[in-house]
Amino acid sequence: MPERWTPDSWRKKPVAQMPAYPDPAALAETEKQLATFPPLVFAGEARSLKKQLARVAAGDAFLLQGGDCAESFAEHGANNIRDFFRVLLQMAVVLTYAGSSPVVKVGRIAGQFAKPRSSPTEKRGTAELPSYRGDIVNGIDFTAEARTPDPRRQIEAYRQSAATLNLLRAFANGGYANLGSVHRWVLGSLKDSPQSRRYNELADRISDALAFMEACGLNLESHPELRTTEFYTSHEALLLGFEEAMTRVDSTSGDWYCTSGHMLWIGDRTRQIDHAHVEYCRGVKNPLGLKCGPSLAGDDLLRLIDILNPDNEPGRLTLICRMGVEKAGDSLPPLVRLVKREGRAVVWSCDPMHGNTVTSANGFKTRPFDRILQEVQTFFDVHAAEGTHGGGIHLEMTGQDVTECTGGARAITDADLNSRYHTFCDPRLNAAQSIDMAFLLAEYLKRERATRATPLAEAAGL
Ligand code: TRP
Ligand code: MN
Repeated sequence: MPERWTPDSWRKKPVAQMPAYPDPAALAETEKQLATFPPLVFAGEARSLKKQLARVAAGDAFLLQGGDCAESFAEHGANNIRDFFRVLLQMAVVLTYAGSSPVVKVGRIAGQFAKPRSSPTEKRGTAELPSYRGDIVNGIDFTAEARTPDPRRQIEAYRQSAATLNLLRAFANGGYANLGSVHRWVLGSLKDSPQSRRYNELADRISDALAFMEACGLNLESHPELRTTEFYTSHEALLLGFEEAMTRVDSTSGDWYCTSGHMLWIGDRTRQIDHAHVEYCRGVKNPLGLKCGPSLAGDDLLRLIDILNPDNEPGRLTLICRMGVEKAGDSLPPLVRLVKREGRAVVWSCDPMHGNTVTSANGFKTRPFDRILQEVQTFFDVHAAEGTHGGGIHLEMTGQDVTECTGGARAITDADLNSRYHTFCDPRLNAAQSIDMAFLLAEYLKRERATRATPLAEAAGL
């Protein structure tokens, strides 16, 4: 029997990646205050995301999850949020139309602040300071003052998340996401690019289809599914004191939910079976993600699935694979086979970003777009070979015209990285690279659909 879970039972377990707050009394005071704040999301919304993800697990939908590596206080603004949302809508429409698949849209947004680090401290010359752990913990400047963890940042992160979520809800439900506006989501920075030409052709076909249906007598305004979209939030559940403070009992079901975001994931660095992050996440009913890196052994994966999804509930658990292009071909198939053989219902998602980070000749942390695409291809090839559903993609992306990942159709070189390198943490796909990615994914979805259709057609004697 597992021990009893409570929102604070993680505190009795070993914990990795926690900041060392110099003033524990101030931290406790902040957590107490957060616990009185309104929830950011509702349990019912987390449940409906879980239902959507269950469709993905069954092979009937696709998960599109993306956003910044880390949100920041400095770049919090309406334009940033709007441009990200536009690119995500464009990608979703490409996947829905060209891939003929319903798309579950989840942002790494409105709470994606805390970062795990490879080292607790950073050295520059002879100076050594605590590492930057994301704006919810400390500041990025290399000064003792900025780098000292400050609990008040948690309050600011909460308020920023609330404001971001408010705008996203307005965009998703207030008309911005109307399919009738499909041409308007093209970003100014992409005008006259090959990506926008290709996108506009597809958007033309959608507009034609809508006009046709309207001419047939369908009143488009009376169909909310054409006017609105469901958009969900997610982040890594890393800063457990914050998550605990946002954990509330849902009055309708009596279950515990983490109300800081719809979906939470456990990082590759904090997925130790007997540690605090797994303990916290097992007790909340939100949909969960588990980052799976190349060091994850099959029996450990099964034990984690047992702990995180003991009832084998579809939609509860998404395995987010971040193997790296060299390792994916060897590491992924045994895990996919094992999970299939053991009959575990999971969503398989591909994070082609985190295993493909390199340092450019001029010292930038970057990710070659070719390697990212190759890992995506390997992921879908493995699922095609195993007869499983490559169900989702997990991207670090932005609506801004940044130069952080090299390559792509508008080939960004090492020398270009310098010009618009804005990330607070890892390099992100820019808008053009994101649209290219969506068209590629649509091809894989079509291919999967075609092969799945064959046995049915054969069965029908066709
Ligand atoms: N409601 C549907 C969906 O979310 C159709 C839709 C409306 C849509 N607006 C959209 C799809 C924007 C993608 C992008 O899938
Ligand atoms: Mn990252």
